[in-house]
Amino acid sequence: MQTVVITGGTDGLGKGLALHYLRQGARVLAVGSTPAKGEALLAEASAISAADRAEFVLADLTSVAAARDLVRRIERGCTAVDKLILCAQRYRLFGPRTTTDEGFEHSFALAYLSRYVLSHGLRPALEAAPRPVVMNVGTPGIRLGRVHFDDVQLARRYSGTKATLQSFRANDLLGVAFAACYPGSAIRYVGYNPGVVSTGMPDHLPQPLRTLAKAQFALFATSVPKAIGPMVRLLDDPPNLPFSAYRGKRQLPLKAPAFDQDAAQRLHHLTQELLEEAAAA
Ligand SMILES: NC(=O)c1ccc[n+]([C@@H]2O[C@H](COP(=O)([O-])OP(=O)(O)OC[C@H]3O[C@@H](n4cnc5c(N)ncnc54)[C@H](OP(=O)(O)O)[C@@H]3O)[C@@H](O)[C@H]2O)c1
Repeated sequence: MQTVVITGGTDGLGKGLALHYLRQGARVLAVGSTPAKGEALLAEASAISAADRAEFVLADLTSVAAARDLVRRIERGCTAVDKLILCAQRYRLFGPRTTTDEGFEHSFALAYLSRYVLSHGLRPALEAAPRPVVMNVGTPGIRLGRVHFDDVQLARRYSGTKATLQSFRANDLLGVAFAACYPGSAIRYVGYNPGVVSTGMPDHLPQPLRTLAKAQFALFATSVPKAIGPMVRLLDDPPNLPFSAYRGKRQLPLKAPAFDQDAAQRLHHLTQELLEEAAAA
């Protein structure tokens, strides 16, 4: 039986994928920070006779310690992980800069650091599976934002948009660096941009942006069941490449600046240092 781990598996795209793989007979571990959403997912799993294969894992992935603990819990409970799908995200486009208890800027911590810790931490469990895949769901192919190497915590010139876009670009580089770190690994790492999809994402935006975003979603967005089609095809049959990136069905050229090898290595080493400092604190 396949084991599928999905962060943000209790809502939106992650939940759509969780229910898909439960219907396919897989064991699914869905990670989220809201117990009520986890319970709702388990009720839906029950309704499709998959209660015994569905697990809700409560974790606040803004915390590096929680992400590390999640790795240990998964390793204890699973001999292998076939698919790791990284969807956990909460946009903070407005408002003041906030930091986590560990001192990291919120978007950097949730949308990038947790994905770094889970990708690298679960590598042995993934490599124990016959065809392991990591799908990092973000916005590859969008030429907006950059990694602010001189100030990755955005302590000097913060804006929510800058932080959100930085987390996207950091995830582009995470996939590049991950592939370079483990030459010969069977893991296929896929960066994936689903386009605009009608999820609960606008619920967390302030008014009037929430209403505006919902209206735009109603007009232009793809539904979750439709959006997960190409994701599932890639997850079940990824290209035979250590790293690939897609925007919908279109494979992106890796020579674009967003996937620069030097920048990827620089961010990888910077992240290692930040995590070591946090562990020592
Ligand atoms: N929807 C789009 O149009 C779109 C477009 C491009 C890219 N994407 C990307 O696709 C991915 C999924 O987006 P979505 O629209 O499906 O999101 P969503 O519906 O808002 O779901 C987000 C998920 O992340 C979880 N989450 C949020 N904060 C968390 C935390 N601190 N710890 C653990 N889990 C947390 C949420 O669960 P809890 O609330 O329980 O924590 C939920 O399960 C994201 O990476 C997003 O950037 C989406």
